[in-house]
Amino acid sequence: MTLFNDMLKGDESLFINDNALDFEFLPKILPYRENEQRHFATCIAPLLQGRNGRNLFVFGAPGIGKTAAMKFVFRDLEDETDDVIPIYVNCWQKNTTFKILVEICDQLGYKLTHNKRTEELFEIVKQIVNKKAAVFAFDEVDKVEDYSFLYSIVEEIYKKSIFLITNHRDWLLELDQRVKSRLMPEMLEFRNYNLAESKGILEHRIGYAFAPGCWDPNSIDAVALKAFELEDIRSGLHLLRESGMAAEDKSSKKVLPEHVKTALSKMEHFSIKPKDSLDDDVKFILSIIKNDSGKKIGDLYKNYQKEGGKAVYKTFQRKVRKLADGKFVSIKTVMGGSEGTTSIITYQSIKKLTEF
Ligand SMILES: Nc1ncnc2c1ncn2[C@@H]1O[C@H](COP(=O)(O)OP(=O)(O)OP(=O)(O)O)[C@@H](O)[C@H]1O
Ligand SMILES: [Mg+2]
Repeated sequence: MTLFNDMLKGDESLFINDNALDFEFLPKILPYRENEQRHFATCIAPLLQGRNGRNLFVFGAPGIGKTAAMKFVFRDLEDETDDVIPIYVNCWQKNTTFKILVEICDQLGYKLTHNKRTEELFEIVKQIVNKKAAVFAFDEVDKVEDYSFLYSIVEEIYKKSIFLITNHRDWLLELDQRVKSRLMPEMLEFRNYNLAESKGILEHRIGYAFAPGCWDPNSIDAVALKAFELEDIRSGLHLLRESGMAAEDKSSKKVLPEHVKTALSKMEHFSIKPKDSLDDDVKFILSIIKNDSGKKIGDLYKNYQKEGGKAVYKTFQRKVRKLADGKFVSIKTVMGGSEGTTSIITYQSIKKLTEF
């Protein structure tokens, strides 16, 4: 067989640790997010002194270090003390009060959750946590279907800090007033990285993942530029891996701009979210928004109902956020105004990656 002759041998691979390109990989340092991590820490600090902590609402675009910053702070907290329990829940995976409580019990080391009701689970959490203090991080919190876990935690856990993390600033608007007024969270926005920061992060990651010197500087620039344009470090990490593989496919010992180009052309095919992946009601909502782009969400809901839409307002809001996740629409929160704070929804004609 000559099939494998031209390929790089195992010890010639360009990758030395490709786990470092995984989205979950936590590097040793998280540059450019020092202020945000410090803000997280100041909310938690009172717990270390036996007082109640502060709550924080964290929002910002996808792929810019919100989850990573939270995990960093938790790692530091665990190194510092056993008296404050860090609890991290991804609400995309655990999207009901029941599932969230099972998850929290699990993290607290309580395994006998089988056949228990929601109230019983909360009692267990309360028993354990109220002996100490806890920081609760609810990541992707806009994906939850009911908020009663929040109400219970705010009301019945004595010493805690609650972090709510989301892409959607407007999610806070729809949160039940009873919960909101008890939570009184501080707000923290994660801004997008600029070009130099995007490059710094990706270069750092190259240092972990690839053999020294195998990245041509122009190739790094090309990946950094794309990650910056897409405003998403995750797409940069993906491109690093794909470019490295494209170079290996050509038995090249360097990742050259042409390999980045190959990776970019592959990305175009799967990054554009097809409208077909949306369910019928979401598509219907998109058509309502398209006909009346730039309107308040409440008015769009009225149009939706008039045209025969059946979902309740909360579900409607959730579906609009789903459209925003796919970049089909954009949501702008307008503060104040005669009717209080509201969201303006604007239709976005879908851009191909090549148009960015
Ligand atoms: N400042 C940074 N330094 C190093 N790596 C970073 C930095 N910011 C983000 N990353 C990396 O980029 C990837 C995406 O970050 P993260 O998962 O924290 O995004 P996110 O803001 O939580 O996005 P989403 O809203 O989609 O959940 C992760 O692999 C993370 O480690
Ligand atoms: Mg995240």
